[in-house]
Amino acid sequence: MKRNVLVIGSGGREHAVCHTLARSENIGRIYAAPGNAGIAAMPTAECVDIKTTDLNGILEFVRAHDDIYMTVVTPDDPLSMGLVDLLNQNGFRAFGPTAAAAKIESSKAFAKELMRKYDIPTADYRVFDEFNAALTYITGAKYPLVIKADGLALGKGVVICKDFKTAENALREIMLDKKFGAAGASVVVEEFLYGEEVSVLVFTDGQTIKIMPTSRDYKRAKDGDKGLNTGGMGAFSPVTEFEDSKCNFKEIAMNSIFMPTIHAMNKEGRLFRGILYFGLMVTAGGVKVLEYNARFGDPETQVILPGLKTDLLEVFDACIDGKLGELDIEWDGKYRVCVVAASKGYPLSYEKGKKITIKDGEGLIFHAGTAIKDGELVTNGGRVLCAVGEGDLLSEACNNAYANLKRMTFEGMIFRRDIVRNAQ
Ligand code: AMP
Ligand code: GLY
Repeated sequence: MKRNVLVIGSGGREHAVCHTLARSENIGRIYAAPGNAGIAAMPTAECVDIKTTDLNGILEFVRAHDDIYMTVVTPDDPLSMGLVDLLNQNGFRAFGPTAAAAKIESSKAFAKELMRKYDIPTADYRVFDEFNAALTYITGAKYPLVIKADGLALGKGVVICKDFKTAENALREIMLDKKFGAAGASVVVEEFLYGEEVSVLVFTDGQTIKIMPTSRDYKRAKDGDKGLNTGGMGAFSPVTEFEDSKCNFKEIAMNSIFMPTIHAMNKEGRLFRGILYFGLMVTAGGVKVLEYNARFGDPETQVILPGLKTDLLEVFDACIDGKLGELDIEWDGKYRVCVVAASKGYPLSYEKGKKITIKDGEGLIFHAGTAIKDGELVTNGGRVLCAVGEGDLLSEACNNAYANLKRMTFEGMIFRRDIVRNAQ
């Protein structure tokens, strides 16, 4: 039987999720709230004008469409606001963690305390909810150190501080000027870790974990990891050195981090079902957790999901029903690279409504901030499009991604020229 689903979100990540779901034999229609122009152009998809944070609006839509089999919740805000809880309470099937489980992302202080309590390796830290106490602490601290707003801040609430001046500024902005609103009511001040970063996303039903291929994203706006933090300007997968079974990375991370985290959440009464994203640093002293996300990453998803050979709807079902242990998940083993085309000014202010041209050609293009206005494809956000390239070698995937990017133009288009090229 064909099943219809509702996907919540409007980014490149959601386009990749819709694209992967559409490959499933069991999928009928895909509704996306609010979606974007790329999703709207899919023959089986339809966008509905409801905001991701309009929980009641989403509930009403699901209620009015008894043909919706499942709602897939990918963005952090509706997860932390309890959209999955609300849908479940009303008898509807939803993929994603409950608000209690999503706290692992929505409060960095909670995540750090969980790791300390259950002996999960992470950077040493202190939590402050009072500016003067934090200021006293950073006066005598060792540099560099890292200051993080406790709550959700679109990936932008982390400041690496090389000296006291930067740290003091960061504290003022977060705690006094309330740059991230309530998200900055408390801060985590933590030790700076040296090493190599790698992300591991897993599917989990709260008992079993199935690992996706490793990935790495590029958070800074400009080449050479300069400029401001963004949601992510590019990504690649897999990260070869951590896929090599000789390095034991996955086994070590599984035993010291992944399973202990799932068990810790269970012990805390916060059963986690959905996607758990581990942002890791491989240091001389072992693998440590930098951050958890309670969802797919963006743009990591755009380089991971196209390689999934197993039916994604089946995987979501297995996570919801606690049957992930019975499912074999297969990947095609290819390298993928994506480069994000963003609006000039991103991650600060930028203009919208610029006409986009995409020439015919090969390769996947995922839409993010795009819309149709007066019949034309136009920019509608900071991150606009995402060009993906694939290959049997990372270098080939990278060349294909940049060749694919050349197909697109819009006024003020910016992108990083060093995705993968500086990182191998
Ligand atoms: P987060 O959102 O916590 O992952 O932080 C964003 C980025 O800041 C990470 O991807 C790292 O590049 C960097 N970062 C965060 N915490 C640390 C740390 N303790 N040491 C070094 N770099 C860090
Ligand atoms: N790219 C990192 C994130 O999705 O949070």
